[in-house]
Amino acid sequence: MIPKVLVIHGPNLNLLGLREVHVYGTVTLKEIDASLRKEALKCKAQLTIVQSNHEGKLVDLIGKARQNRFEGILINPAGYTHTSVAIRDALSASGLPVVEVHLSNIYRREEFRHHSMTAPACVGQIAGFGKESYILGLLGLVDILKQQNRAAKNK
Ligand code: DQA
Repeated sequence: MIPKVLVIHGPNLNLLGLREVHVYGTVTLKEIDASLRKEALKCKAQLTIVQSNHEGKLVDLIGKARQNRFEGILINPAGYTHTSVAIRDALSASGLPVVEVHLSNIYRREEFRHHSMTAPACVGQIAGFGKESYILGLLGLVDILKQQNRAAKNK
């Protein structure tokens, strides 16, 4: 069975490549998505990729993830990482394994970024590797999903 993964990019990530290049580098969201799709082909996962600047839209998307037959979520909640109880609740309520990723190492930056509101709803977090954070996060998530599928088969 090919794991179906929902990839979510939060606010302002549509501006990557132009935005705070000294922090995020010149990589664009299009390039990240292309790398994720390439990796997904290799590790045999099916991806749906969405970006939104709107908290409610992200909550709705996460809320419908299970119903839409996604098995796991890879998310960079961006600015909402540090503030959004609603996104954290939606992630917890989804009941799906979630991996949180960040391009930058949020723990080396301003103090307000040191706390992730959303991380406790996730199986793990990867931060600080730029574009590679997404790839590492995808590999970790797919590994969990394949283990889950194997366990379900052997029941
Ligand atoms: C970010 C880190 C957040 O603190 C910030 O608000 C972002 C991007 C990252 O990928 O490094 O928008 O999530």
